[in-house]
Amino acid sequence: MNIFVLTGAGVSAESGLGTFRDPGGLWRRFDPARLASPEAFAADPDEVHAFYNLRRRGVCEAAPNAAHRALARLQAALPAQGGRLFLCTQNVDDLHERAGATEVVHMHGEILRARCGSCGASAPWRSDLTVATACPACGRAGGMRPDVVWFGEVPLHLDPIEAALAAADRFVAIGTSGAVYPAAGFVAAARRRGIPTHEINLAPSDTAHIFDTAAYGPATAAVPAFVGAVLAGRI
Ligand code: APR
Repeated sequence: MNIFVLTGAGVSAESGLGTFRDPGGLWRRFDPARLASPEAFAADPDEVHAFYNLRRRGVCEAAPNAAHRALARLQAALPAQGGRLFLCTQNVDDLHERAGATEVVHMHGEILRARCGSCGASAPWRSDLTVATACPACGRAGGMRPDVVWFGEVPLHLDPIEAALAAADRFVAIGTSGAVYPAAGFVAAARRRGIPTHEINLAPSDTAHIFDTAAYGPATAAVPAFVGAVLAGRI
């Protein structure tokens, strides 16, 4: 069985990383237009760096949870059953990888990488960034930014994502509100292909009506249950 899994902030919520649109979520407390766009970075790079430095430290302090571990287990086990898990995440944290997932497609980039606005080089990055940070590749300062996709920028890896969606036997969305495209449109694309679609979330998402089935509850309970059912051949 080829399963396409799309994860969102909800899969990392129980690791202590905030979501965006839940009560108390990041975009309920901060204005994304002022913190997560190229225009915001050009206007006030210090404020944007401060926001991402805080989030980067939070990711480094967080630990993967049972949902991340269950997905890593599924990714490792499916090939023996002739299947494959394509793990696409909207999250910029590395908790899927730290839980043991090997191929993770970060369509919104990775907060533990930094990219140079001058030469375009990207490098692993765990410390704070400032406007004085020099690019390790070209040496120029002033242009280093978090290697994440901001509002108004094009998400990454859309071709392999489209190919994986076209080859999937099942589509599963976990911990995402279905508020941001193109990710929010993946379930409709799966529906058009006629493959089963399943939502795992704390509560019905904006696209809940498109899914065939759903399991609502904390990801650390619902995802291991789902993975157990798949590996036992019950779904
Ligand atoms: N278990 C499962 N689901 C949860 C949990 C949990 N413990 N806690 C929250 N959720 C669900 C919420 O019900 C919500 O539907 O996770 C979802 C989080 O939604 P958002 O905060 O909108 O996050 P996400 O869908 O990942 O946002 C997509 O928007 O701002 C951009 O780039 C950002 O990648 C992000 C994108």
